[in-house]
Amino acid sequence: MKIHPNKSAQSHIPASHGGKYGTKNPDVNVIDFSSNVNPLGCHPGVRRYLKKHLDSISEYPDPNSTDLRANLAWFTGVPKKQIVVGNGATEIIYNFCKTFLNKKTRVLIPIPTFSEYEISAKLCECKISFFKTMDLSKNLQKFIMKIPRNGCIFICNPNNPTGVLIQKRQKISFIMVHVMLILIKEQNLM
Ligand SMILES: Cc1ncc(COP(=O)(O)O)c(C=O)c1O
Repeated sequence: MKIHPNKSAQSHIPASHGGKYGTKNPDVNVIDFSSNVNPLGCHPGVRRYLKKHLDSISEYPDPNSTDLRANLAWFTGVPKKQIVVGNGATEIIYNFCKTFLNKKTRVLIPIPTFSEYEISAKLCECKISFFKTMDLSKNLQKFIMKIPRNGCIFICNPNNPTGVLIQKRQKISFIMVHVMLILIKEQNLM
């Protein structure tokens, strides 16, 4: 019996994100902000911690990230059971799509934005439409009118690559009007 990847996986094109493996002939004099890594290098505290715990590299990591989630809950004030840990935000975006979306889901994505939203929704064979805007904060009402019923939207805030931020006040009224929607809000912590 021959096995084949499903149709959406066959047409999957991985995103390119700059950084060491995505930039051809990088200029060493230019600070690279094209990927989500610290241009100053590894923080000395992280280095110290890793050195001290190097022996545990032979163990599996805790699949529930128990201590990390407890510390994050303490730091952010968000209940521990609402915290999901992933190996980067991209993994969480893909897991979110696999968990909640399917080929019947209509997805609306404001563009330009972070490319993995579209790619992960495509892998779930969703029906995707786009809303072109360079500043979603100025076009929120028009965007709201296009939101699919029982569908999904992706909001990147502040948006990559435009850097535009939707203010907290705007966001709250937006969420209140559309409580049935699944909304992703991201914040990158360096
Ligand atoms: C909006 C957004 N989400 C996710 C990521 C990737 O995050 P991670 O490196 O944690 O996977 C980036 C990287 O630039 C981003 O801009």
